[in-house]
Amino acid sequence: MRTAQLTIDPAFTIGPADRRLFGSFVEHMGRCVYGGVYEPGHPTADGRGLRGDVLALTRELGVSVVRYPGGNFVSGYRWEDGVGPVGDRPRRLDLAWKTIETNAFGLDEFMTWAAEAGVEPMMAVNLGTRGVREALDLLEYANHPGGTQLSDLRRKHGAEEPYGVRLWCLGNELDGPWQVGHKTADEYGRLAAETARAMKMIDPSISLVACGSSNRRMPTFASWEATVLEHTYEHVDYISAHTYYDPSDGDRASILASAVDMDNFIRDVVATADHVAAKQRHRRKLRISFDEWNVWYESRLQADLDRRGWVEAPALIEDDFTAVDAVVVGDLLITLLRHADRVGVACQAQLANVIAPIRTRTGGPAWRQSIFHPFALTARYARGTVLRTEPVSPTYETKKYGEVPVLDTVAVHDEETGVLTVFAVNRGETDLPLDLDLRGLPGLRGLAHTSLAAGDDPTATNTEAEPERVTPREMNTPTTDGGRSSVLLPAVSWNVLRFAPTGDV
Ligand code: AHR
Repeated sequence: MRTAQLTIDPAFTIGPADRRLFGSFVEHMGRCVYGGVYEPGHPTADGRGLRGDVLALTRELGVSVVRYPGGNFVSGYRWEDGVGPVGDRPRRLDLAWKTIETNAFGLDEFMTWAAEAGVEPMMAVNLGTRGVREALDLLEYANHPGGTQLSDLRRKHGAEEPYGVRLWCLGNELDGPWQVGHKTADEYGRLAAETARAMKMIDPSISLVACGSSNRRMPTFASWEATVLEHTYEHVDYISAHTYYDPSDGDRASILASAVDMDNFIRDVVATADHVAAKQRHRRKLRISFDEWNVWYESRLQADLDRRGWVEAPALIEDDFTAVDAVVVGDLLITLLRHADRVGVACQAQLANVIAPIRTRTGGPAWRQSIFHPFALTARYARGTVLRTEPVSPTYETKKYGEVPVLDTVAVHDEETGVLTVFAVNRGETDLPLDLDLRGLPGLRGLAHTSLAAGDDPTATNTEAEPERVTPREMNTPTTDGGRSSVLLPAVSWNVLRFAPTGDV
């Protein structure tokens, strides 16, 4: 049997495990809002229509930041449609998802929901069909204390205190020809720079995200980032990245190696941003907002869109995630943590129903999809400083990414409690023995080994009838001897290994 080795040394740090890496995304798309977070009349909904079961699962998931209101949706959105008396709000065509938007849920409802969920809002402005003026109006409504038309309008709508939204996205995927208001890099770069400059005049404390590429396969990838940043570098704090991995072709070896691609994606964007910084003599390093990432059976989208005309809140891309998908999601989280020095925000897309960890039935229950578990446990245990790990691992061959390591890892050390957490994925089809050298952190003992293993039942999913079919399970507690430990990582599995200083419980 092939063995892997991992040495942990607290001297080799990457950076703090920022809570903002555990973000999510609520878009007006399909049943993410309507029938997801918001469903007046649902047995668990409060007087404002916020579903209590979805709120509880959102808290359990450990989400930190939630991006809103899109996505492609935002490029045709008028934020003013979603505020004020609900009966007066217009019904509109949403071109992005061929849907009727009722506007029953809008900015004020989202802010109420975010406060209830205990999450930080991340707002996107429309730079597809709108521009500087509308972005400024939205910021004034949201963040200005009062005494102006728009801030007083917010107060009239019941929010006396400003919302104080800190994170703002300057549009969404404007490099994509599918985007309403699609632009060239120069057109977008100029608009984003001017919008950013003006927004910071209203509120200099905000952080701004310029749109990077919609994915790494875009023909304009990297040149888009370079041009956009040449216009915007001095005005923005983040460049965005989006990626989805599609398991539809059944190539399990490749989908399990998706994190290799995400890793390279991050390195490419960092290199491009640093190139612009060098050229323009900036000392400040730009960070990435990885504000859309997930597994997505994307090849099924067209069928969803073809099936209907203009309707309200249709079921869109409600993928049932398998046990293998959960392992992939766990590995993507490992990758984000490994780049904690340059990735400052990350949002899994999306939160409810739409390629989501939380699924609901309208009028019925809510349940955890398989991918809920690696997210929730990573958000819970990745606390402290991310440590650099250099695993020694056997490799395997993939069609999409060539030869890749079977093992992927990241470690997080909590200096306050002394707890060391190692996240490890075995991408291989056989169990993988892992030898850990923990002598750099003397006196550790094993606390727990939790594993989500897909090897036995790779296509298993959680459904309304069987909501607990794919869940992590507790393995034998790791033992330590002279600072060394050996564990067995099951075939195709995502694992959390926890060690604590001797004497602590
Ligand atoms: O998350 C679904 C969609 O994927 C988003 O609206 C868009 O930004 C991306 O292409």
